[in-house]
Amino acid sequence: MSTTVSPPSNNQGWIIDDRERGLFKVDREAFTSPEILALERERIFDRSWLFLGHASELPKPNDFITRRVGGRDLIFNRNRKGEFQAIINACPHRGAQVERQPCGNAISFKCFYHGWAFNNNGRFATRSPEGVYPSDFGDDGSVDLVRVPRIDSYRDFYFINYDSEAISLKEYLAGSAEVFDLLADHSPNGMEIVGGAQEYSVRANWKLLVENSYDGYHAAETHSTYFEYLLSVIGMSAEEVIASMEGETKGLDLGNGHSMIEGRGPWGRPIGRPIPAWGDEGRAEIEAIKSELRARVGPERAERIATYDRNLGVFPNLVINDIMAITVRTFYPEAPDLMSVTSWAFAPKGETRELRKRRLDNFLEFLGPGGFATPDDVEALESAQRGYASAKFARYNDISRGALKKNPGGNDENQMRAFWREWNRRVGGC
Ligand code: FES
Ligand code: FE
Repeated sequence: MSTTVSPPSNNQGWIIDDRERGLFKVDREAFTSPEILALERERIFDRSWLFLGHASELPKPNDFITRRVGGRDLIFNRNRKGEFQAIINACPHRGAQVERQPCGNAISFKCFYHGWAFNNNGRFATRSPEGVYPSDFGDDGSVDLVRVPRIDSYRDFYFINYDSEAISLKEYLAGSAEVFDLLADHSPNGMEIVGGAQEYSVRANWKLLVENSYDGYHAAETHSTYFEYLLSVIGMSAEEVIASMEGETKGLDLGNGHSMIEGRGPWGRPIGRPIPAWGDEGRAEIEAIKSELRARVGPERAERIATYDRNLGVFPNLVINDIMAITVRTFYPEAPDLMSVTSWAFAPKGETRELRKRRLDNFLEFLGPGGFATPDDVEALESAQRGYASAKFARYNDISRGALKKNPGGNDENQMRAFWREWNRRVGGC
């Protein structure tokens, strides 16, 4: 049965999008309503391509990981032939999780509850004494593990879709596909998810983290502590940093609700921009990486890959921050005012120990749950969520910054408007 909830009677769903005057508002009910969350599950998470994992997480045939995606427990695995699969991790007998380990290598799965077994294609493989079940029990596939309707990959990023009728992944990714190309070209040896993940929860609506992930406007205020630290490392004040980026940073709508900010910050990039704190050794190593990159992809593309920062949001909930280190992050609503976040470090395969250390320090230092950025962002998001308790009196969020500009910058809010238009089109717009 489908969920119904009526949008406010302004004929625009939960947003006000006045392009003539350059005003854009979002109704705060979108952050608090359980009915809207039910609509999101049905119309967004059950119909969008959702990030499942990266090929590097399953290097060998029969490797598997278990992961919760879009509210369902899945097994992401490779079979004996090495094919990548997405299987629903719920036993056909009574529903228990068939695989409970986070990762491993297995040619079969056995449910811990009553012991039903399956091969790693999900095929039922249990022998029972004669007469217990009909002799053709399971021959029709009805007690096999169920596959997720769609699985597809782009540049080794695997996605699933619970909608068998969905458009292809490539078409869905629209302009964001190019960013995956840029990421894949970082290294001649391929890219990998670095072992382990950061997991944490935030007492705020999941869409607040979507906005925050490519919100250039908040950086100087919210992350003033980081800018003070930067002053000691690179000798630039927060004002100088912001001024150096102003005008060059872009806020881009990549189609289908995907968005990005892209520009050049003064902080270090392990692939293209050494900072004094990394010493002469760091400078020489990064120069060598850039030379290899120039020879492989040409000078222009090398410059874009190595020296530009980008924060990408793939609708609805995959964020890739390629700024200092590279982080891949997803987050899901547990309730209208609670989300769970998972974040991975992503890096070139086979890089030197020293470079990997710089990269991971960077990952922890800024975007880690105890880093310079995330605790400040969590505080801001939770504070905003508390503000929505007063939505009856203060009803709208404002997302108008730069709406009249032809080429909005990274400190404008064009990227958020792109997300909200797609969200509204799917959930409640007209
Ligand atoms: Fe899995 Fe019974 S629930 S064997
Ligand atoms: Fe932030």
